[in-house]
Amino acid sequence: MKKRLLDLLICPCCLPGEYPFIADIGREHDGDIESATLICPQCGARFSIDEGVAMLDPHATDSQRTTNKYETDEVVSSYLWSHFGDLIADEHASQAYGTWAGLMQPQAGVALDAGGAVGRFSFEMSTCCDFAVGIDTSHAFIRAARCLMRERCMTVSLKDEGVLRREVTIRLPDKWRSDRVEFLVANALALPFRRKSIGLFSSLNLVDKVPSPIRHLREMNRVARDTKAQFLLSDPFSWSIEAAPMEEWLGGKSDGSFAGKGLANVVALLADDKGELAPVWQVDEPGSVWWKIRTHSNHFELIRSCFVHASR
Ligand SMILES: C[S@@+](CC[C@H](N)C(=O)[O-])C[C@H]1O[C@@H](n2cnc3c(N)ncnc32)[C@H](O)[C@@H]1O
Repeated sequence: MKKRLLDLLICPCCLPGEYPFIADIGREHDGDIESATLICPQCGARFSIDEGVAMLDPHATDSQRTTNKYETDEVVSSYLWSHFGDLIADEHASQAYGTWAGLMQPQAGVALDAGGAVGRFSFEMSTCCDFAVGIDTSHAFIRAARCLMRERCMTVSLKDEGVLRREVTIRLPDKWRSDRVEFLVANALALPFRRKSIGLFSSLNLVDKVPSPIRHLREMNRVARDTKAQFLLSDPFSWSIEAAPMEEWLGGKSDGSFAGKGLANVVALLADDKGELAPVWQVDEPGSVWWKIRTHSNHFELIRSCFVHASR
């Protein structure tokens, strides 16, 4: 983990209290911490940095890691295709990340991509701010994103059919600078970042995957600056009780709190000047993109991801 991030980090166990860590650094090289323990002076929680990967998810357990589908090699390779298919000139590659990137205005400061998987949108945002951070609960995704950041190229084995595989090599374009991004294991419901520290915040295809979508939005609002901030949320709003109990959904219900459609309810939350996401956000016209996941050569999932971009 790049050492400069220490200034931004706080203990995620003590929220809403904000306590910077004491860093007990084992190995570091040229501004990069390879191994360390980050210790909270308030609650005593200890988080490790191992092989450069900071593990800052206070809810992580070993059993979650073994059952999380996002930790498997097959899903990592699927997401590497989804994020970087255009870089290997795949004719079926999704254009979604380019469309989302086009919505962000250049802004000084730090960008945060929550649930950023293998890193595409963090790299995109690194070109329009000073520094971009991608966080995800999947260690496998964060390891893959950091590998691309360090090596700038990666050979990936894509499933063709059955046990047949095809190797492709992803090479990052020069405009995505490795010194301007970092990737951490962290949880979007308990962000290890100081309040008002983030200029650009993105949440792509995440809000329907977390157990408390409103807690994710509150955390976004806590870390986002009061001015000169942008927020991009995009999601298929595939609400499911596997991800969150129905009372937590922000839409997809006919009555109760957050009845109606998810996108309209998120827009209403952002535009409410006295609501829990105040100070108020100016919301642009919502839209949608087709986002793709590839399982094998003849099997793709086509997902309409509905987006809203807001600024304040
Ligand atoms: C559907 S994928 C979307 C990935 C990426 N944002 C994109 O659009 O390509 C959802 C991602 O959210 C991550 N995730 C799920 N719950 C999370 C949480 N509580 N905090 C952070 N990341 C989470 C998953 O590991 C996965 O990478």
